[in-house]
Amino acid sequence: MSASTDDLKSELKELRRQIEHHNHLYHQQDSPGIPDQEFDRLFDRLLKLEKEHPELAEPDSPSQRVGSEPLSGFTQVEHKIPMLSLEKAFDAESIDKFETRLFKRLPPNLSQIEYSCEPKIDGVAVSLRYEKGILVQAATRGDGKTGEDITHNVKTIQDIPLRLTGKGFPDVLEVRGEIFMSKSGFTRMNNAALKKEEKTFVNPRNAAAGTLRQLDSRITALRPLTMFCYSLGDVSMTLPTRLSEVFELLDTWGLPVNPIRQVVEGAEACFNYCELLLSKRNELDYEIDGAVLKVNNFALQETLGINTRTPRWAIAYKFPAEEVSTTLNDVEFQVGRTGAITPVARLEPVFVGGVTVSNATLHNVDEILRLDIKIGDTVIIRRAGDVIPKVVKVILEQRPDNANDIVVPTHCPVCQSEIEQVENEVLIRCSGGLYCKAQRTQSIIHFASRGAMDIDGLGVKLIEQLVSADLIKNVADIYQLKLEQLAGLERMAEKSATKLLAAIENSKTISLQRFIYALGIREVGEATALALAKHKGSLQAIMQTSIENLIEIPDIGEIMAQHIVSFFAEQHNLSVIEALLKAGVKPSELEVSGDEELPLAGLTYVVTGTLELMGRSEAKQYLQQLGAKVAGSVSAKTSCVIAGPGAGSKLVKAEEFGVNIINEEDFVSLLTQHGITV
Ligand code: IVH
Repeated sequence: MSASTDDLKSELKELRRQIEHHNHLYHQQDSPGIPDQEFDRLFDRLLKLEKEHPELAEPDSPSQRVGSEPLSGFTQVEHKIPMLSLEKAFDAESIDKFETRLFKRLPPNLSQIEYSCEPKIDGVAVSLRYEKGILVQAATRGDGKTGEDITHNVKTIQDIPLRLTGKGFPDVLEVRGEIFMSKSGFTRMNNAALKKEEKTFVNPRNAAAGTLRQLDSRITALRPLTMFCYSLGDVSMTLPTRLSEVFELLDTWGLPVNPIRQVVEGAEACFNYCELLLSKRNELDYEIDGAVLKVNNFALQETLGINTRTPRWAIAYKFPAEEVSTTLNDVEFQVGRTGAITPVARLEPVFVGGVTVSNATLHNVDEILRLDIKIGDTVIIRRAGDVIPKVVKVILEQRPDNANDIVVPTHCPVCQSEIEQVENEVLIRCSGGLYCKAQRTQSIIHFASRGAMDIDGLGVKLIEQLVSADLIKNVADIYQLKLEQLAGLERMAEKSATKLLAAIENSKTISLQRFIYALGIREVGEATALALAKHKGSLQAIMQTSIENLIEIPDIGEIMAQHIVSFFAEQHNLSVIEALLKAGVKPSELEVSGDEELPLAGLTYVVTGTLELMGRSEAKQYLQQLGAKVAGSVSAKTSCVIAGPGAGSKLVKAEEFGVNIINEEDFVSLLTQHGITV
């Protein structure tokens, strides 16, 4: 036997072992060891090798049965008609090729193919059996031929009828579909579990799978599961001509079908549907990992037939994965403007959610402990939509022997000052204040930025150069810069140096609120700076005010008031302000007035559903900062409703009253417009 056959045999053996192992983790333990994408890769490799070398096929290869043995606690159910899987496509070209293959097998006079396009739900495939309209059995897909009886659990799902409604349903109706957990339901359930210090689920699909495998259906009943039906199994009736007509019938019988399905003609229209769906992916309250494109006409489906485990008449168009695994190469601790130190994961670059990611936030030290993460670990990264990438899980079983503990610094990585852990806060902070170059650099970047002093040409790179060359130590030093100093810097010609000095000069005339904002007082954003300017009128008045006085200003709470007062009590800050004024910076004075001039004054907002980038109380705080009132219920007087996924009756009411409705993205741009960055 040649060495290469030996190599192949051992590769196949290893692939089968790994797939069996991960199948077991996924199906029996409900705790996947690797992301789906990686599992698919292993599986695809196995299929390819077995196809190329049929002589090496094994009757017990995982390719023969897809999935794993049912748990002993559940009864097995034979699927009279097997539950198939789908071939995959990742681009427009593969959809074209799919259609070309169809045309080859279909009558030559057929000019156009009609498709039923549906979201590919990321949940658990099940088969429901109705006899004389009564739900008699529900089973998981299992290996496609044999699944597990989960009737007791499925009966607890509100959206699934125990008895069919309407007329004309057959004596036997087997309907297949996906059971899943909504994103909002998942967040709610996990938050509740966190509060009770119970185990949380990694994602909605695992939550749905774990829930369906509960032996105690009373637990299932408490979990927010739902279903969309997408195909039929054993059915004792003559079917209509098309799948789209079946969906309409299922709907009249009370079975849940996906409302965003669509009938289109031709491969190009299929691809357009996929693109449209991808653009809506993050607005949906359930997870989808692609679109399923099916030949709509049953007679054509029949002609096309099936391959071993996939129908020839359907294809799954897969979206870029939102969760992938990669290696944690290092963890760096970054110092922000206010001294907060954040751990940042440096990753082996990986393509996730449509972009290449090499950094992810680890939020804080508690998160490191919660994840039990070490350098060298294989980690699962999630990036959905434009949300900042984060580490969701560590694959402990892939931990290398030489994995290193993450050492939380006791001293600031930039200025070596001691680190303080603030009471009741998970954050650690550098105690160096403006002595710390990192904080200094960040505070100067903030000072010069657009919403603050808006010094054109004084960007991040230049500020870093100026600080490291010790040309500026604090924001007042900006006004002492000389042409020769600037022109001597790397990539700085005399012309741009002259332009920069003019911009610096220009910034001296500034509104009071921008000046206050530019100082970078902790938690004082643009809206608070504006409120301070309006209520106090002058820099002197703001500097001399007391905590008691400050908290009388709407939306300035005690903590923020404390930050303001301690900022102006700090000698270093006073000298910087004095130097700024001496250099000619002149914050304008304002007429003292109330709240009515805040941008959202007089408007009433309602927040409903789940927001991804902030909590509802945070959203409320932002709105109040901008002068809006925040109400708990919708009425005709409501000015605007901010609706996240899972918004229910409030959204319906808002629609009834014709109230303006915006989503989180619109809200974030409204905030950005008014200088609040989330
Ligand atoms: S059709 C013969 N439609 O995707 C038809 N499947 O890889 C087979 N899935 O196991 C399935 N949404 O769990 C179909 N709208 C949809 C689907 C869908 C999700 C899942 C299903 C299946 C897997 C196929």
